[in-house]
Amino acid sequence: MNELAQVAILIGAKGRGSNMRALIQSCMNGEVAAEVRVVVSPSSDSPGALAAESMGVAVATVVPGDNYGDRILKAVNGCDWICLAGFTRLLPINVVHAYEHRILNIHPALLPHYGGKGMYGRHVHEAVIEAGERESGCTVHWVSEAYDEGAIIHQETCPVFPADTAEMLAERVLALEHQAYPRALAKVINGL
Ligand code: GRF
Repeated sequence: MNELAQVAILIGAKGRGSNMRALIQSCMNGEVAAEVRVVVSPSSDSPGALAAESMGVAVATVVPGDNYGDRILKAVNGCDWICLAGFTRLLPINVVHAYEHRILNIHPALLPHYGGKGMYGRHVHEAVIEAGERESGCTVHWVSEAYDEGAIIHQETCPVFPADTAEMLAERVLALEHQAYPRALAKVINGL
């Protein structure tokens, strides 16, 4: 019997897939007691999809359109957990309901601040710098019906320096994400 939790990762069309790679790696090296069974991608040749394949993980291509949620659920194929990693769309509601408290997302700021519609990529870091924050970080949270509003599972912080550009801050936060996401997944799998 396979005791490892089964995980599906949903990535975006243009995603670099760096969080996806960090999650796959941490499962492969035993840091997280889980197996990434499938990566669901809207395109078969995005950097993320190609990276998943090269790491030996199956890729299911699911293109947005009619019955999008049903087709995502079919691709997820009964996995225990879903991790969103650079998935920028609002997840179809039937997927959210089918996987309540089993879908995680990572956001590159300290929610509940700097989240919501339009708050992605460099927009987040620009807003943090503009507000004069001295600290930023990343948040892993449950996915609910609204953007970035589900309960917080795990946060990690890093400094914001006075001379930071959005790119510099983005790089610092991304490095933090790569350790925070596997930790958060381990935390929920272990029921902590
Ligand atoms: C990350 O910054 C994550 O916080 C956000 O989208 C970005 C995805 O980056 N949700 P990557 O594709 O994992 O490199």
